[in-house]
Amino acid sequence: MRAVELFSGAGGMSLGLRQAGFDILRAYDAWPVAVETYNRNVGHHAVVADLNDLLSTVPEIIGLAPDMICGGPPCQDYSSAGNRTEADNARLTLAFAMIVSIVRPQWFMMENVIGCAKSATWTEARKILKRAGYGMTESRINASRYGVPQSRRRLFVIGRIGERDGFLASSIAAAAHPTMTLRDLFGTVTPAAIYFPATSEARRSIWGPDEPAPTIRERSIRPIPASYQPHPDDAALIRNGFVYSRPVRAGRGVRSIDEPFPTVTRTAWERPTPRYLSSPHPGDPVAAVDTAVLAVHQISRIQGFPASWEWRASAKQDILQMIANAVPAPVATALGRVILDREAGRNAPDVAGGFLQWLHKRGRSKASARNVKASAGRARRMLGGRTFDNLALEIAALESLLEFQEMRKPTQSDLRQALRLLAGYQANRSQRREKPRQAAAQPLTGFAAAA
Ligand SMILES: C[S@@+](CC[C@H](N)C(=O)[O-])C[C@H]1O[C@@H](n2cnc3c(N)ncnc32)[C@H](O)[C@@H]1O
Repeated sequence: MRAVELFSGAGGMSLGLRQAGFDILRAYDAWPVAVETYNRNVGHHAVVADLNDLLSTVPEIIGLAPDMICGGPPCQDYSSAGNRTEADNARLTLAFAMIVSIVRPQWFMMENVIGCAKSATWTEARKILKRAGYGMTESRINASRYGVPQSRRRLFVIGRIGERDGFLASSIAAAAHPTMTLRDLFGTVTPAAIYFPATSEARRSIWGPDEPAPTIRERSIRPIPASYQPHPDDAALIRNGFVYSRPVRAGRGVRSIDEPFPTVTRTAWERPTPRYLSSPHPGDPVAAVDTAVLAVHQISRIQGFPASWEWRASAKQDILQMIANAVPAPVATALGRVILDREAGRNAPDVAGGFLQWLHKRGRSKASARNVKASAGRARRMLGGRTFDNLALEIAALESLLEFQEMRKPTQSDLRQALRLLAGYQANRSQRREKPRQAAAQPLTGFAAAA
């Protein structure tokens, strides 16, 4: 699949999507330092652009005809660290929604802070995307379950034309792993360079840990040399066993390396302040003064950037800002794979357990409810995991399949009926969810009303 990224920053999301198998066509960001870093590390397709100016970018993106538009619009207006006034930055979430709605790729993926989910701006942006025909899954992802040792919680909204809302939720949940800790990252021996004897096919011997190895032959398998030493900063961190991170509000400052790190921010390298040292958090396992100090390359790796990533900016603050802004690449890889699998029909949405209770309440016996649920799951798999926001289209798609046409008539009507009942259950559930959302929604402001 071919993707365009908006608000690409230094390239965390692009890197992860590329590792999942996406072809990144172009990336846009207004900050030249971030664009330069992106081009140095990901590939030379990032350009400096102000995405407020839709007329300058939209025609170009239409010409690229991407299958997906992705991006993490600025989050300061929703962030707990900001003052939560929805202003210029929040408008860029609307710009994202408008660009997607005009270009209308099959898919989009948007990342933001959790606070965005309940904002008036996102309510407006969602309406724009709905009107353009997207079904959406809004997931709150904890990055420590998706490949980085960081308890970073973020909102990911993934949309696809014509789907029912929630169409990808169960596959995203199924892609989660056990929580990753700092020891999992720094305690494993990952050499900066790996030796494979040169072959006629691959004429070099030294390979980085972030690239595929050459074809493995019997003689290329060698134990890691006894002389290999982990990076001195990593060895010091593992020996110490604890690390400090400036707490949010009255939270805990000291973390064990057997936990994930908290959300990486620009201040992740700071030492404890005299104020914290004089009144530490009662839950700190050791004194903050005795913890290890994280180096910038370690903060970058906690955020999922590979050890070979080159950060070059005249100010350390700029590097930390780019790191803190990023989507950890492994998170983007995990979500990218879920999308590619669904596109190829390799995964299908689970039929929620609540469907069984809903059927019971409507008078179905347990056995009959289980049969309906199984038939709905079967129909979903036959449709290659697609859900349709329009029931008539869903049934027409099912009927067009040769596999369906070859079934016995009673089985065909069971599958149709199961999809009808499932659609009834989902409509009922989204009505119940919609009510509190409508109560919380604020009136449209000029920008979105104009859209
Ligand atoms: C949250 S960061 C995105 C980080 C990126 N997703 C990654 O994984 O590295 C938001 C980005 O939006 C960019 N930005 C802010 N205002 C912009 C504008 N008007 N037009 C384009 N980009 C803008 C910032 O420079 C910043 O890099």
